[in-house]
Amino acid sequence: MSSTPENRPDPRKVTTSRLVEMKSRGEQIAALTAYDQIMASLLDAAGIDLILVGDSAAMVVQGLDTTVGVTMDHMLYHASLVSRGVNRALVVGDMPFMSFQVNPDEALRNAGRMVKESGVEAVKLEGGKVICRTVKRIVETGIPVMGHLGLTPQSIHKFGTYQVRATEEEEANEIRRDAQLLQEAGVFAIVLEKIPAELATEISGDLEVPVIGIGAGGGCDGQILVSHDMLGYYTEFHPRFVRRYAELADTMRGAFEHFVGDVKAREFPSVDESY
Ligand code: KIV
Repeated sequence: MSSTPENRPDPRKVTTSRLVEMKSRGEQIAALTAYDQIMASLLDAAGIDLILVGDSAAMVVQGLDTTVGVTMDHMLYHASLVSRGVNRALVVGDMPFMSFQVNPDEALRNAGRMVKESGVEAVKLEGGKVICRTVKRIVETGIPVMGHLGLTPQSIHKFGTYQVRATEEEEANEIRRDAQLLQEAGVFAIVLEKIPAELATEISGDLEVPVIGIGAGGGCDGQILVSHDMLGYYTEFHPRFVRRYAELADTMRGAFEHFVGDVKAREFPSVDESY
């Protein structure tokens, strides 16, 4: 659906408390990722509510096989570009693998760097019970935290596969418990990635904080996708939860080939394109 007067986004700045208000009045939260200023400003102008500077940068920008390799310095760089391009959306910086797992002090120091040095307004951490003490510490210091459960890509070497999580009751129960514990620890929202729709709907109904789904069905309080996936720009994977809104890789490949052909044939530049 395109923007109409009825569904046009509220022009006010999105804050963590406004996201909770949106949940309570049943307004869906629209979120996408960005890694640079130009993309971020396009998303902001389109009325996106939340922009995540995802550690997916490792895969869709750096071309790595997993998100594990991206560093704190890389994330600070991307996050500072994104923050500069945004007026309305809430900007969240993803904490990369091993920037928050060692202990709460180190996690707090890195979360503080993310906010102070890049200008993001919140951070996202993957994990459940094991990170709750860290989440509490960061939140108490005044930095809003978003949780992330289900298929948490930083644990890919433990999972061994990107397949749907929590199809067994034991893992589903663990996610139910972790979602409650994260809420108690003070997160303002939780991402649920690639879990059964029924489970995600149940957790969304049980929590007061918004649940943003990715591959978690239509019963969440909002949806997030990786922009490069939904644009058809990153085409290494195409899981069925990614709806492609464009086919940019094909368009770009065609444009590049066209340019090469024009140069070889001396058809570019024309007289009008010269001085
Ligand atoms: O890094 C990322 O892009 C993410 C989204 C998949 C939620 O964590």
